[in-house]
Amino acid sequence: KVYENKHIASKKVAKRIADLIKRKNEKQENAVLGLATGATPVEVYEELIRLHKEEGLSFKNVITFNLDEYYPMKPDAKQSYVRFMDEVLFDHIDIKKENIHIPDGTLAEDDITDYCLAYENKIGEVGGLDLQLLGIGRTGHIGFNEPGSAPNSGTRLVTLDDLTRRDASRDFGGKENVPTKAITMGIGTIFKARQIILMGWNKKKASILKKAIEGEMSGNVPATYLQLSENVEFVLDRDAASAL
Ligand code: GLP
Repeated sequence: KVYENKHIASKKVAKRIADLIKRKNEKQENAVLGLATGATPVEVYEELIRLHKEEGLSFKNVITFNLDEYYPMKPDAKQSYVRFMDEVLFDHIDIKKENIHIPDGTLAEDDITDYCLAYENKIGEVGGLDLQLLGIGRTGHIGFNEPGSAPNSGTRLVTLDDLTRRDASRDFGGKENVPTKAITMGIGTIFKARQIILMGWNKKKASILKKAIEGEMSGNVPATYLQLSENVEFVLDRDAASAL
């Protein structure tokens, strides 16, 4: 779906999420959301906050799982995704703290494998992801599934691509300060979501989105694996869709 601009597109995505939450609330069920960080989803979160404050949308029955976190990373560090999600969404809505899940960047390396398995299991225990939001990195990564990731990969520790670290360097005051690793849900984890929405805005994403949507499926561009799923929607603004 291509919209005139990211403001309109973000509102549409937020409305889809709000409708899902309301449907689930009516049935007294939980809505299980997979959430993304980065600049791309920020306006979606702003609109969800507005719907909460102005229209009484409640997040009491919402359970969230974030895609990824840098490793190592302290939750209170400026660049942590825990802090990011608090600032752009969680601090402004009525979600229960115990319903928020973000990969833990403080673990000892030896504990990560068990932790990742438990993260996967937790998603399964609450009924699986109803909806997964995604952005896309310029390497074609979704979450932090960099080139070389397998289509059936699970939550795990990964090494970040050089381009990803370069793109993150502004947040960290230099590439040398960007962690070399991250914990990310796998492509297989993302695939289990009942709906997947990948959003992309601006000219700088046009070329990778063309590869992701129209290119040959390959581990070199992990987002191309989304071509395998019938539950995926790409929501783009005009500029991001300009190379299609
Ligand atoms: C990071 C995140 C991804 C995100 C990507 C794009 O690498 N781990 O989940 O999709 O950045 O970021 P942005 O939305 O800022 O372009």
